[in-house]
Amino acid sequence: MTTTVIISMLLDAALPDRCAGIEFDAITPDEKGNILYFKGSHLWRGFHGPAQPSNKYFKELDDNHNTGHVDAAFRMHNTGNKDDHIYIFRDDKVFNYYNHTLADGYPKKIREDFPGVPTHLDAAVECPKGECITDLVLFFKGNDVHIYDNATKTVKTKTWSHLPVCTSATRWLEHYYCFHGHNFTRFNPVSGEVSSGYPKDARRYFMTCPNFGEFIQKRTVRFGHGGHYKIRKCSEAKIDAITTDDAGKRYIFAGPIYMRLDTHRDGLHAFPITRAWKDVTNGVDAVFSYTNKIYLIKGDQVYIYNTAVHYTLIEGYPKTLKEELGIEGHVDAAFVCPNEHTVHVIQGETMRAVDLTATPRAVTQVLPMSLTGIDAALCSEEGINVFKGSQFYKYESPRTLALSRIAPVPQNITKAMIGCEE
Ligand SMILES: *[C@@H]1O[C@H](CO)[C@@H](O)[C@H](O)[C@H]1NC(C)=O
Ligand SMILES: *[C@@H]1O[C@H](CO)[C@@H](O)[C@H](O)[C@H]1NC(C)=O
Ligand SMILES: *[C@@H]1O[C@H](CO)[C@@H](O)[C@H](O)[C@H]1NC(C)=O
Ligand SMILES: *[C@@H]1O[C@H](CO)[C@@H](O)[C@H](O)[C@H]1NC(C)=O
Repeated sequence: MTTTVIISMLLDAALPDRCAGIEFDAITPDEKGNILYFKGSHLWRGFHGPAQPSNKYFKELDDNHNTGHVDAAFRMHNTGNKDDHIYIFRDDKVFNYYNHTLADGYPKKIREDFPGVPTHLDAAVECPKGECITDLVLFFKGNDVHIYDNATKTVKTKTWSHLPVCTSATRWLEHYYCFHGHNFTRFNPVSGEVSSGYPKDARRYFMTCPNFGEFIQKRTVRFGHGGHYKIRKCSEAKIDAITTDDAGKRYIFAGPIYMRLDTHRDGLHAFPITRAWKDVTNGVDAVFSYTNKIYLIKGDQVYIYNTAVHYTLIEGYPKTLKEELGIEGHVDAAFVCPNEHTVHVIQGETMRAVDLTATPRAVTQVLPMSLTGIDAALCSEEGINVFKGSQFYKYESPRTLALSRIAPVPQNITKAMIGCEE
């Protein structure tokens, strides 16, 4: 064996194993929603895969000959479609990465960029406006949490002694997690209150570990990582329903799962439908959103949920289609256009308009459809996308959808749209 081979074998053997019950130094999503787990001079990217030197992604984390640790890291959201910044803390310094490059003037002293925030942090996590009162960053050190107001650059310190000392913290799909040992605890970013049922073992939920498979198999299937839902090829794609809620979150339904498709920054995630909508155990035929509520249609039943933080079924539901919308029969697709009060319900060769402000609700218009066999439809500012098998058609308005005798040229559903395999 050559020396190089021996050295590389030794290096491989020395790679840390995230399934060995270790404690992470820092955790943050990257700008694409892949979670980065830091430990010593290494990091893991995503839910599985081997450790890699941190300086492969963050070149400047090498200033101690690749023996450097990090204390804390978080991702700062960016309004608009720009990439997010990733802030990494080590001792008294902060590194600010944007577009995989260290921003000008960094590293800086923490006090230059985040005045009032202590050095040698344990953990950090961003809490954007909406989830916190204003854009905040929570910095953890011991049992203290230093709450940094990004706009006023002021800090308030609280002591959350009921929370374990967090060695890393992260926000993932609007939830906040404190990691301690190989366990993690979900907490409320405003009150610090711990959710019931915690701590849980990170190896069951945040990574794929032998004998700890639940996360991938039962809880949250991240696309591309297997699980019960078979990822189809894009050319064989078929979705059941699609909708965007008032907060701009997009949901796609296919069989027993739904996918969240907000923005590029959180990546694409798939979950069992029952995780969010407990009562909807058998898939959906059509889904639409209206005034902070999501309507899920299956067979002749309509389930209406409040789309507030936790989905709650509105009392008295499900009801029949007849009772709720004044229609009967199988529904292929349904959509409401932005700022409108009419749901368009596609049933085979017919599209019915139902006035959602009327009581009882009643059909106001019936139009014949020239395009049939539709799976799902979504109306946005850009028009209507009608999904049929692995393709979709773009229309300007409900009227052109019903009245066009000649269908527009179909486009193929892409990986970026629903996470299928190209
Ligand atoms: C990101 O960096 C690449 C080169 O590394 C560059 O081509 C691209 O324009 C940069 N994007 C932004 C938004 O700065
Ligand atoms: C936080 O403050 C910095 C500097 O003032 C600013 O560049 C950044 O956009 C702010 N972040 C958010 C999320 O508002
Ligand atoms: C992890 O949590 C379990 C309970 O869920 C507890 O028994 C165990 O001691 C914890 N381990 C660590 C290292 O915090
Ligand atoms: C759409 O996909 C089919 C195969 O599934 C392919 O033959 C066709 O060229 C694609 N069309 C476009 C516009 O990419």
